[in-house]
Amino acid sequence: MVDVNQLVDVAGGVQSKRVFWDQEVYEQELDRVFGRCWLFLTHESLIPNAGDFVTAYMGEDKVLVVRQRDGSIKAFLNSCTHRGNQVCHADSGNAKAFTCSYHGWSFGMDGALAALPLEQSAYYGKFDKAEWGLRPVAKVDSYRGFVFGCFDPQAPSLPDYLGEMGWYLDTWMDGTGGAELVGPPMKSILRCNWKVPSENFIGDGYHVGWTHAAAIKVLGGPLSGLAGNAEIPFDDAGLQVTSRHGHGFGVIWDGVGLIHNDPAYRIYAAEKQPEVAAKLGDWRAKLYMGHWNAGIFPNCSYLYGTNTFKIWNPRGPNEIEVWTWTLVEKAMSPELKREVVKQAIHSFGTAGTLESDDGENMETCTWSNRGPQTRRGRMNSQMGQVNDTEHPELPGIIGKNFIGETSYRGFYRFWAELMEAKDWAAVRANDATWKEPLIKGAAKAQGRAA
Ligand code: FES
Ligand code: FE
Repeated sequence: MVDVNQLVDVAGGVQSKRVFWDQEVYEQELDRVFGRCWLFLTHESLIPNAGDFVTAYMGEDKVLVVRQRDGSIKAFLNSCTHRGNQVCHADSGNAKAFTCSYHGWSFGMDGALAALPLEQSAYYGKFDKAEWGLRPVAKVDSYRGFVFGCFDPQAPSLPDYLGEMGWYLDTWMDGTGGAELVGPPMKSILRCNWKVPSENFIGDGYHVGWTHAAAIKVLGGPLSGLAGNAEIPFDDAGLQVTSRHGHGFGVIWDGVGLIHNDPAYRIYAAEKQPEVAAKLGDWRAKLYMGHWNAGIFPNCSYLYGTNTFKIWNPRGPNEIEVWTWTLVEKAMSPELKREVVKQAIHSFGTAGTLESDDGENMETCTWSNRGPQTRRGRMNSQMGQVNDTEHPELPGIIGKNFIGETSYRGFYRFWAELMEAKDWAAVRANDATWKEPLIKGAAKAQGRAA
C-alpha cells in the first residue's frame, strides 16, 4: 500500500513526482480510483435503439455498453465467462446477441448466457447457464444523457457523485435543452500518465499563452492576444472551481467559441443566453458565455466553448489511449454542429494544432520521471492558493481567476482521499470537512505572502 501522505500535501499544494511514474501507485489507482468512481462510457444519443452497443474502457477493464429492450442501458465486462476471450471486438453496432469467437458461447443483449455449442452432448445437459452470464457493471446511470458506469455498489448515486459539479454542468447540459456528443470517438495513443492531461484540462489556464503561443497566433481571433502571455487579462477575467469529488474547471468570461474563426457559434450562444438566464439564473447565464477547461474526476475532460470532450484511458502508468468526441448542443442547427465539429477536430482532434502542442509536454512530464532521482522530487500547484475561498452563490471552492491552480489542488485532494480511504463509507465520513485542507492552504499561502 502506498503512503499517500508522501505523495500529496493538500494544504501545501505540493505533489510528489511519483504520482506520474510508479507501478505501485498505478495498481492502487486501478483499484481505488477506477474501481470506485463513476466513469464516462458514452452518450445516450450514440446508442438510441434496443441492441445498440458501444465498447468502452473503465480504467483498464474493457466493457460492453448496451441499450436494452426496455430502454435502459446496461454494461458488462467484455470478457467471456468460459475462458476469458473478448466477447465483442467491434467499436459499436447493433446486435441481438454477442457470440464469442473462441468456442461460440453466446450472450444476450442483457448479458445472460443464452446458448453454448454442444450443450447437450459435451455438458450432458447439466450446465447451469444462469450462473455464467457476463459480469455486469454494478451501476450504470445517465446524467442529462451522458452515461457513466461504476464498479462499486457502495458508491454514491451519479448525481451525488457529480455533486456541486452537476449545478455547473447544467449550464450547458440543460440550459438550452441538452447537449450530445458527435462520434464515433477519434482514438490515439499518448505516452503519458493519465493524470497529466486530466490535471491540464481541469485547471491549466497558465500554459495557454505559452505552450500554444504559435498555434493561437495562427488561429487568430480574440484569443491570439494571449500568445506569449502578451495580453493576459487578470482582474475579473474568469474563475476556477473545485468540488467535493475532485471535479472542477476554469472559466474565461465571454470566451465561448473564441477559438472558432467563424462567428456563428458566438452568435448562437448570445441568442441562447436569455433562455439560460430564465431557466438557471444569472450566474449560469454568465458561465454559459464563458470558455471552460474542465474535468469530471477522474479521467473525463472537456472544453466547453471549444467543444472537445475526451477520455484519457490509462494503459499502465506511462501510456494512455485518448478518445475524443465533439460536444454540441441539441438546439444547434445541423450546419452549426458541422462547423463546431470541424473546429474541434482542427484544434483538439488527434492531429489538432493545440492537441499536438500539449502532447509533447504531457509525454515529457511523464517520462522525465523514469529516473529514480528525478522521481523523488516535488511538483508545485500553489498558484492562486492565496485566494481560494467559498462563495455565497457558487458551489465548491472558488479561485479568483482562470489562471490559477485551484482545481489542480482539488483534483489531488480527492485523489489522495480516495487512494487512502478503505471504502466509500470512509470517504462519506469526510463530507462535512472536505474543504478544510484547501481553506487551510489558502491561510498558509496568505501567511507566506505576508
Ligand atoms: Fe469464449 Fe470459450 S472463451 S466461448
Ligand atoms: Fe493545452
